[in-house]
Amino acid sequence: MIQIRAERNGDQEAIRQINDAAFKGDNESRLVDAIRKSELFVPELSLVAETDGELIGHILFSIVHIQSGDVEIPTVALAPMAVVPEHQNKGVGSLLVEEGLKRAEDQGFKHVVVLGHPDFYPKFGFVRASTKGIEAPFPVPDEVFMAKEIKVGSLHQIIGKIVYPPAFDTVS
Ligand SMILES: CC(C)(COP(=O)(O)OP(=O)(O)OC[C@H]1O[C@@H](n2cnc3c(N)ncnc32)[C@H](O)[C@@H]1OP(=O)(O)O)[C@@H](O)C(=O)NCCC(=O)NCCS
Repeated sequence: MIQIRAERNGDQEAIRQINDAAFKGDNESRLVDAIRKSELFVPELSLVAETDGELIGHILFSIVHIQSGDVEIPTVALAPMAVVPEHQNKGVGSLLVEEGLKRAEDQGFKHVVVLGHPDFYPKFGFVRASTKGIEAPFPVPDEVFMAKEIKVGSLHQIIGKIVYPPAFDTVS
């Protein structure tokens, strides 16, 4: 039985350990800590997967902006997400993405971007961001920077470039 729920006080160390184990380093856990301290953190969108009282996965969505001319349009970025190695490939990551997208919609977000595995995210409706007129903030292979319209058509009138906040500079 796996429960997906928002992180609570006291989960932070376990979330650090999940990220360190999945990414084999601490860049991503430092990113999570930096975002948590920033005003772009959305507590409802930091989700953990729990089984038998143990946290085995984590996903974070936080606010970033689409710079469209002089206008900054808020959106959310999915980053990072991690499942401990012993529990990978059992559907936990998919549960986290699906629940996160639902909760992002509940929070009123209309679109989401992700930099990630091009084989993993399309099954949740992500497409190359470039096909929606959304550019990555730095040069990346086109297929790894993806966007999803949570509200269908919400990116139709938008052309712009994602701006990550300084917290993302912690990931080298
Ligand atoms: C990516 C990750 C979160 C997926 O979690 P998970 O619980 O294993 O995901 P699920 O079991 O729901 O789905 C597994 C799918 O992810 C794919 N996948 C996992 N790691 C992958 C990788 N490095 N590249 C491409 N696909 C990957 C598997 O092939 C599988 O695809 P399938 O469903 O088509 O067979 C997990 O593997 C992980 O923590 N990896 C290390 C950290 C990382 O890379 N995070 C994501 C950054 S974008």
